[in-house]
Amino acid sequence: MSQATVSDNVWVPKEFNLLDAKIFANGHPWSLYRKMRECGRLIRHNGAGDIPDFWVATHHDDIRAVSHDTQRFTSNAGFNFPAAGKYPPPAVASAISRNIINFDPPDHTAFKQMLMPAFSPARMKALEEHTRAFVTELLDQFQPGQDVEFVRDISSVIPIRVLCDLLGIPKEDENKILAWTNLMVGVNDPEISSTPEQSLKAFMEVFAYGKWLIKKRREDPKEDLMTLVANGELGGQLLDETVLDGMCATLIAAGNETTRNAITGSILLLAEEPAALKLLADRADLTGNAVEEFLRLTTPIIHMMRTAKTDVNIAGQHISKGEHVALLYGAANHDPDIFADPERLNLERSEARKHLAFGTGIHLCIGQRVAQLEMRILLPEVIRRFKNIDILEAPRYLLSNFVSGIKKLSVRLS
Ligand code: HEM
Repeated sequence: MSQATVSDNVWVPKEFNLLDAKIFANGHPWSLYRKMRECGRLIRHNGAGDIPDFWVATHHDDIRAVSHDTQRFTSNAGFNFPAAGKYPPPAVASAISRNIINFDPPDHTAFKQMLMPAFSPARMKALEEHTRAFVTELLDQFQPGQDVEFVRDISSVIPIRVLCDLLGIPKEDENKILAWTNLMVGVNDPEISSTPEQSLKAFMEVFAYGKWLIKKRREDPKEDLMTLVANGELGGQLLDETVLDGMCATLIAAGNETTRNAITGSILLLAEEPAALKLLADRADLTGNAVEEFLRLTTPIIHMMRTAKTDVNIAGQHISKGEHVALLYGAANHDPDIFADPERLNLERSEARKHLAFGTGIHLCIGQRVAQLEMRILLPEVIRRFKNIDILEAPRYLLSNFVSGIKKLSVRLS
C-alpha cells in the first residue's frame, strides 16, 4: 500500500496554533478542538522557531495509544511545546529536561517508586486532616454576601499550603513559592512575567531554594517528599544537581498551578450553572464524581508532548522517527466517542472518570490524589456555606499554551 505524502495530510485549521499562547486567551478553544477531531485522527501542525512541523492528537483513543506506548514513544526529547517554538535558556532547559516527567523506563520506574511513599495512604490521611482544618480556617474569614476575588483569596491559597505540607516546605516560605510558580508558568503572559528574564530569575531562585532544602533534608530527614528527593538514589548514586533542580521546579509548578485552576474552573462552572450548584448541595454523595467531571471540563494541562523513537503508525497515520506529537487533553476530554453530550456539565455522568486531565500511562500524574483531595474537601465546604455564587466580572485567563489557567475570578458568595 502506498504511503500518504506530506501534502496528503490533514492540517490543523488555520485559526489554531498550539505555539501561540493567545489561542488560549479565553480558555480552551472547544469549538476548534471539535473541528480538529472531526477533520482527522492525527493531524499536521506547522512548526515554528526551533520546532519542526509536528502531529496533533485530539482523539481520546489516540492520546491513550501514544501515552501507553513507551516502546515507540519517548518523553525524553521534551514534555511540551514551548510557545512560539522558543526553548527556555540552557540553564532552565537542561534542568527541566531532566526530571521524572522526561524520563523513560527503567529510570522513570525507579524514580516513581522512589517518590511513591510520599503519597502512601497514611500520608494522604494526614494531608486530608491538615487540608480540612486549613480549608475551614480559610473559609471562616468569608461571610455570606461578601465579594471575593476567588483566585487570590481562595483557590491560590489552598494548593500552595497543601503542596508545601506535602513537600515539607516551611509555612513562612509559602508566599515566596507562590510568587515563583506564577512567574515560572506565566512566562508568556506579560501581566505576570513582564520579561523572560523575570521568569528565568524565578527558576534560578527555585533551584537555589531547592538546594537549600535538600541540604537540610540530607542532614535531618523528615517524612516529606523533599526528604525522598534529597536522599533518593538512581543506579546507586544520589540524584545529580541538574535532576534535583528539575525535580524541585517540576514538583512546585506541577502541584500548584494545576490544582488552583481546577478549583477556580469548578467554581466558575458552578456559578454558570446554578442547577448543578443546587444538585451538589443536595447530594453530597455526588462529590467524588462531580470532581472528576470538573477535571474533565477544566483540563488544567493543555497539552503534553511525545516523540517517536521509531517509525510508527497510529490510527492509520504514519509518524516518522523523531517526529513530535502533541497530546491535546482538552480535545480528548470532549471526545463524543467517550463522553455523551461532551460540552454539558453533568455531575452524574457515569463515564466522568475516563477523563485524561491527569494524563494516562506511566506518566499518569503522581499528585492526582492530592488534587482530588483538595477539590473534594473545598468544593462541598464552599457550597455548604454559600448557596449562591454570582460572577461579578468576566474571568481573566492566563496566556499560556501549557496551563489552562484563570488569573482572576470575581464573585459574590451569598
Ligand atoms: C488538577 C491538578 C493536576 C493536573 C491536572 C495534573 C496534570 C498532570 C498531567 C497531565 C501529567 C502527565 C504528564 C505526561 O503524561 O507527560 C502529570 C504528571 C505529573 N504531575 Fe500532575 N497534575 C495535577 C496535580 C499535581 C500535583 C498536586 C502534583 C504534586 C504533588 C503533581 C505532580 C506531577 C508529577 C511529578 C508528574 C510527573 C509524573 C511522571 O512523570 O510519572 N501534579 N500531571
